[in-house]
Amino acid sequence: MTNKIVDHYEKPGMGKAILNALIMQGIDIKKLKPENLYSLDQFHTRGIVGTKDQASLTEPNETMHILDIGCGIGGSARYLAWTYGCRVTGIDITKSFIETAKLLTKKCSLDHVIDFKKGDATDLPFDNDKFDMVWCQNVSMNIERKDLFYKEVARALKPNGRFSSSEYALGRGGSPYYPLPWARGTQESFLISQEEMRLYTEGSGLEIIDWIDKSKQILAVAPRALKILEDDDAGLQLVAGEDIATRVSNSTKSMLHGHIENIMMVAKKPL
Ligand SMILES: C[S@@+](CC[C@H](N)C(=O)[O-])C[C@H]1O[C@@H](n2cnc3c(N)ncnc32)[C@H](O)[C@@H]1O
Repeated sequence: MTNKIVDHYEKPGMGKAILNALIMQGIDIKKLKPENLYSLDQFHTRGIVGTKDQASLTEPNETMHILDIGCGIGGSARYLAWTYGCRVTGIDITKSFIETAKLLTKKCSLDHVIDFKKGDATDLPFDNDKFDMVWCQNVSMNIERKDLFYKEVARALKPNGRFSSSEYALGRGGSPYYPLPWARGTQESFLISQEEMRLYTEGSGLEIIDWIDKSKQILAVAPRALKILEDDDAGLQLVAGEDIATRVSNSTKSMLHGHIENIMMVAKKPL
């Protein structure tokens, strides 16, 4: 099952293509800043706005070491390190995403505070009780073994550490419209209901602090977000694929019809 996920995301040569696109936009890649990349490195709902919203719930600080699970090309890792001065480790199962994350982070001169590793969220290559915060955005929909995922999140967190996550859940309207940003069909998509998500979170020993349904907020900005993608100056196509506007449109329609919902949550590992 894992290979289907990797096949869905893998894009060899993506790093070079992104740098060329930046040069074409007149950006000096020798003086690259994280914000130069926000239009293409935030592969999740509401892009950088969603990242800022999620970060505001947990108040990261410079003493923290954060693990970003399913970090993609490292956009949120760079945002967190750049904005809050924390250390970040990113892990992702897709090789070209990790290669691109490393390349762009070096170009932003943030490689002394951020490192990336290829690996699987259901079998994290880290010691117990290591991170002050585990961060995750639009990843769990791709993970079939939810039990292992939540167990690994709880294991990797220090006692009193926070799990900060934004994910899609299955609504009551039935199966969503495919293809979606995270899956071309049901073989890559493992959506569960909000109730099941809560059970897995609490079943792993974590205590839920915040549980916010963001669906209405997302639908309110969806037409504008889609227009940007259709006009394509953002460059997200280079990361997410040529048909990302169609897939985002299906995601919006699925949410509008009650097939999917979007959750932002914070949970705590007890002391
Ligand atoms: C929609 S993208 C989101 C990327 C990133 N979190 C962001 O918001 O920009 C989903 C990411 O999850 C990663 N992923 C999916 N299943 C994974 C797993 N089992 N372990 C680690 N990463 C995984 C994919 O490779 C992809 O980079």
